[in-house]
Amino acid sequence: MRFSFVVAVASLGGLLFGYDTGVISGALLFISDAFQLSPTLQGVVTSAVLVGAVAGAAIGGATTDRYGRRRVIIAMAILFTFGSLASAGATALWHLIAARLLLGVAIGVASMLTPLYLSEVAPAERRGGIVSLNQVCVTAGILTSYLVDFAFADVAGSWRWMLGLGAIPGLALGIGMALLPESPRWLAGQGRADEVRAVLGQLRSPASQGETDREIEALRGDIRAERQSASLQALFTSASARKPLVIGIGLAVFQQVTGINTVIYYAPTILRQAGFASNAVAILATAGIGVVNVAATVAALLLMDRAGRRPLLIGGMIGMVACLLALAGSFAFVGGAGIATAAALAVYVAAFAVGLGPVFWLMIAEIFPLAFRGRGMSVASVANWGANLAVALVFLDLMRVAGAAGTFLLFAALTAAAVAFTWALVPETKGRSLEEIERAMGEPVAISAANAATAGYDG
Ligand code: BGC
Repeated sequence: MRFSFVVAVASLGGLLFGYDTGVISGALLFISDAFQLSPTLQGVVTSAVLVGAVAGAAIGGATTDRYGRRRVIIAMAILFTFGSLASAGATALWHLIAARLLLGVAIGVASMLTPLYLSEVAPAERRGGIVSLNQVCVTAGILTSYLVDFAFADVAGSWRWMLGLGAIPGLALGIGMALLPESPRWLAGQGRADEVRAVLGQLRSPASQGETDREIEALRGDIRAERQSASLQALFTSASARKPLVIGIGLAVFQQVTGINTVIYYAPTILRQAGFASNAVAILATAGIGVVNVAATVAALLLMDRAGRRPLLIGGMIGMVACLLALAGSFAFVGGAGIATAAALAVYVAAFAVGLGPVFWLMIAEIFPLAFRGRGMSVASVANWGANLAVALVFLDLMRVAGAAGTFLLFAALTAAAVAFTWALVPETKGRSLEEIERAMGEPVAISAANAATAGYDG
């Protein structure tokens, strides 16, 4: 089996995460008309997915440790397919909300499990790039959803098509995953040594038999460490997990309260307010923003191991602050002049995509000591989806009360706080082995010394 096929199929999880969160941006305009939604109810329709995702992220870690990666991903693929068809066929508002809740559970589990499965099947030396590829797929999924939204804007039953088409990648994920092997790491954890060897034999080229043997040996070491692994309570009480937890939860929350998803989910709504004439034109401008998101994420991938995480994070966030201030100014003084607003939104998304977007998901896979990695990722993912939900719930009402200018000003202030947080606490992990990171994270003094040393950005 070709490794690229494994990566392609597993990446459909990221694509679905992106598609099913992004599709609401265009669909919401039509759903609002169909069901006569107030701003609060628009927030509820958008947020149902996020409520489900919080639950999915919370149960994902424990469920997959018990039942394996493959079976849980297949179950989620079924849920993705069913949830898409059920939301497309909704005849009542509660029906739509329930279907989006179920979809959310699939998204929450997939948001953790896709990077987890990818990191477990990847050869060690390519793990970083392959984990970041997941974020490229998330952004590609968002872009696809925008294009679908645009294509179906003038078709009868538009929003039903938009939501329903998510069933296709869902089905592809299920069929593809049924053909893929279980994660060798999970099998090793179950003591199924023969299957580990068989799976690695399938995944690696026959020429690298010696390497496969070394990999199996390393896997044994990993598994021994995992066996000592750690309850949720230990995660919150252990000294070695404290710093990673603060950084993981901090980045999770900051990734969302900088307002990224108000743009990803509501861009057409914002653009209509900025004077774009029709739903279709606003959605097309949004698709342009989606292209920028994918392109900047690919650039981040290429820069990640050269420039390092800290400069991408800090530089990106400073760019975001500048764009948010420009947006606030544009809405305050010239009523959100159309093209300028679209341009500022696009640069803002690019600044997110080179830093906070990929680096958050990468860092939570890097900073937790091995014994805490699964639980730690779960907690950080719950914090991320929870913050995402909180922002989505208040955003439209906030726009009403504080106006667009006030809202963007608030996001600018929160992003400035994120810069300070990153500057003070987030270490450079570029070029370090996970063991080195783990040691540094355990020693608060060494970490700040490391930060000081890497403030010059060469790791
Ligand atoms: C975030 C999502 C966001 C996406 C945008 C991801 O890293 O977790 O909330 O929608 O990036 O590209």
